Amino acid sequence: MSAHLIRISEVFSSYTREILEILAAEKVKRLGSEYYLFQTEHAERITNSPAARFIRWHIPVEHSWPCNPEKMDGFIEKAAQTIYYKFESLNPQTMLVGQLDPSSTKRYYKALASNFRGRALQVFEFPERAPKAAEDQNSSRKTLFCMLGKEGLFCGMASPKESNGFYPGGTKYISQNAEDTISRAGAKVAEALHYLGMFRPDLPEGSHWLELGASPGGMTSELLKRNYRVTAIDRAPLDARLNAYKALTFLRDDVSEFIPPRGARYDAILSDMNGPPRQAIAHVTRLTDFLNPGGIVIFTLKTTGAESIPEIDSLEKEVLEIAEKAGLTFVARTHLTYNRQEFTLFFEKA
Ligand SMILES: C[S@@+](CC[C@H](N)C(=O)[O-])C[C@H]1O[C@@H](n2cnc3c(N)ncnc32)[C@H](O)[C@@H]1O
Repeated sequence: MSAHLIRISEVFSSYTREILEILAAEKVKRLGSEYYLFQTEHAERITNSPAARFIRWHIPVEHSWPCNPEKMDGFIEKAAQTIYYKFESLNPQTMLVGQLDPSSTKRYYKALASNFRGRALQVFEFPERAPKAAEDQNSSRKTLFCMLGKEGLFCGMASPKESNGFYPGGTKYISQNAEDTISRAGAKVAEALHYLGMFRPDLPEGSHWLELGASPGGMTSELLKRNYRVTAIDRAPLDARLNAYKALTFLRDDVSEFIPPRGARYDAILSDMNGPPRQAIAHVTRLTDFLNPGGIVIFTLKTTGAESIPEIDSLEKEVLEIAEKAGLTFVARTHLTYNRQEFTLFFEKA
């Protein structure tokens, strides 16, 4: 038996019971807004089972201190000293602290998490070259992740890739500024690019993206802001605010009609098309001949219509099979903050 802390996004709360059953979870305790603490004899199912895709982030819990930090005298000092004795010999690359309930309006835990991390970093005396920001971590080296909330403190060692994010709880929270956001999908691609940073360096400025299903243009706008070139296609129009970008070519058409111009090559394909996923991935694979070797594909797998875990599982398997046949290597899959009943899949052209 080992103890684990997993995060399941609110949109999948109706599947929680089934997910925990697949994981053979025992002594389950719900913590904060989206976290579950439990024990299991089948820890491998957290990453390898039909339940895995619903687990946004996870750590093995190697230290837990159930307590109410607000009522505890000297919580920070006691907690920092304890984790130092427990984890110092395991040589974490750094230590990061997250909140079990990040949506809480109470600022107490945000401040506590920050002060606790500050003190722990002093106690551990990490070397000068230790990562300063979460994104500076080596995504394959173990970090000491700690989660904090009114239920206490829960810590464990995992690499960002193993836990599924550079940050405690997953990817960096990217807020949407309602006034200048064209659609919620803008923050989605920003988060997807941040996540992809665990697997490969960012594409250089000037890289050419082919975007399928771009309207109204939230994602397009994010790509253009990063100084990428974008060829965007949609049956529906793009937001007029995008007209000013010279790096954008927009074709108002059905993707099935699109034939890349002579000599065109792309560094990445982004597909956020709605409609049946088998059709959407077929549009992508038809165009992968025009993708440079090493090029990436970011694909939103919309699961609307699939109403059970086995249905979603077989839908994704089919999509992966089609992609693999077209020479796309599966890199990762995740559920992002702004994903609804959908997942973001990442591929690389061999
Ligand atoms: C979820 S929206 C895309 C949102 C967009 N990524 C953004 O950032 O604002 C899906 C889009 O896919 C487009 N779409 C779906 N199938 C298409 C096809 N076969 N050809 C062209 N556009 C398609 C729809 O018109 C719709 O605008």
